[in-house]
Amino acid sequence: MYSLLPYNTFGIDVNADRFLEYTSVEELKKLIAQGAITTPFLHIGGGSNLLFTKDYDGLILHSRIEGIEVTEEDARSVSVRVGAGVVWDDFVAYCVEHGWYGAENLSLIPGEVGASAVQNIGAYGVEVKDLITAVETVNIQAEERVYSVDECGYTYRDSIFKRPENKSAFVTYVRFRLSKEEYYTLDYGTIRQELEKYPALTLPVVRKVIIGIRESKLPDPKVMGNAGSFFMNPIVSKEKLEALQQEYPHMPYYELANGRVKIPAGWMIDQCGWKGKALGPAAVHDKQALVLVNRGGAKGSDIIALSDAVRASVREKFGIDIHPEVNFIN
Ligand code: EPU
Repeated sequence: MYSLLPYNTFGIDVNADRFLEYTSVEELKKLIAQGAITTPFLHIGGGSNLLFTKDYDGLILHSRIEGIEVTEEDARSVSVRVGAGVVWDDFVAYCVEHGWYGAENLSLIPGEVGASAVQNIGAYGVEVKDLITAVETVNIQAEERVYSVDECGYTYRDSIFKRPENKSAFVTYVRFRLSKEEYYTLDYGTIRQELEKYPALTLPVVRKVIIGIRESKLPDPKVMGNAGSFFMNPIVSKEKLEALQQEYPHMPYYELANGRVKIPAGWMIDQCGWKGKALGPAAVHDKQALVLVNRGGAKGSDIIALSDAVRASVREKFGIDIHPEVNFIN
């Protein structure tokens, strides 16, 4: 029995039968050759996007492949190869320290580099797919395969690595390209407004502003268990949006390239009156309604009960189904 309490930011107190970590591709291949990777298994990253609903009757795998290595560099850009086990925000900090542009809006996102490429993490107008060039994997037959970014099938919070048939493609390294030429993505929310408090626009200042915005809205998992946004923002047709705007003229939305629109689920949940409300030991965060929190001692089923109630309210009020972004592990 192995406690998963330190391995899920929701702070759900469950156990796994077995737990294995590896620090290199060679070690992973050796584990496979020895038959140590038995089914069922679940490969986790930082555990910041998981909801365990009960004890896991199987093997939990975790990569501790470290390292940030420059593989190519010219005057305009730098290519780096980063171990799947590197803490995502350590990598962002490294980029900012080295004057590499592109990752700063993704500051302070919890989790690890390997999972960032599975989940296509995103925030403040940037998605990690914008920076990735390729993803290196090893599968359960110990075969190595490098996926170019185009082969990864990236869309909003999704990739081919989330498909059940790719469950055994373990990400070992992620390759990124960052810019050495100054550029920023500043048009989301209050970024520009916050930047006015600083005398100059620099990479460390943008990181600081992003961290400030996140800290003002998102709960620290060390203080209160949570997995960031619990739901995805639903994507609907323009017609659906226009119909809703008749009743809710101030409804926020983002236009997508394909003519559809993304509606912030947090806004809808807030409108339903759920912000700051609790159902037993689970609650809707009081500063960002898209986040569900563990008030202490919650079980997976408590979080699901709240999630179901929130989804039912949103469906009833707006006629839209919202879906969890967090992975439920049964
Ligand atoms: N809003 C409300 N009330 C709330 C929450 C939001 O009215 O309680 C409104 C805001 O005022 C704003 C809009 O909804 O008009 C969007 O809110 P916000 O900018 O906070 O972003 P979000 O859509 O709720 C997404 C990501 C976050 C990411 C932020 C910033 C998803 C599922 N979530 O949230 O990602 O940090 O944008 O880019 O796409 C995560 O994935 O875990 C995560 C935190």
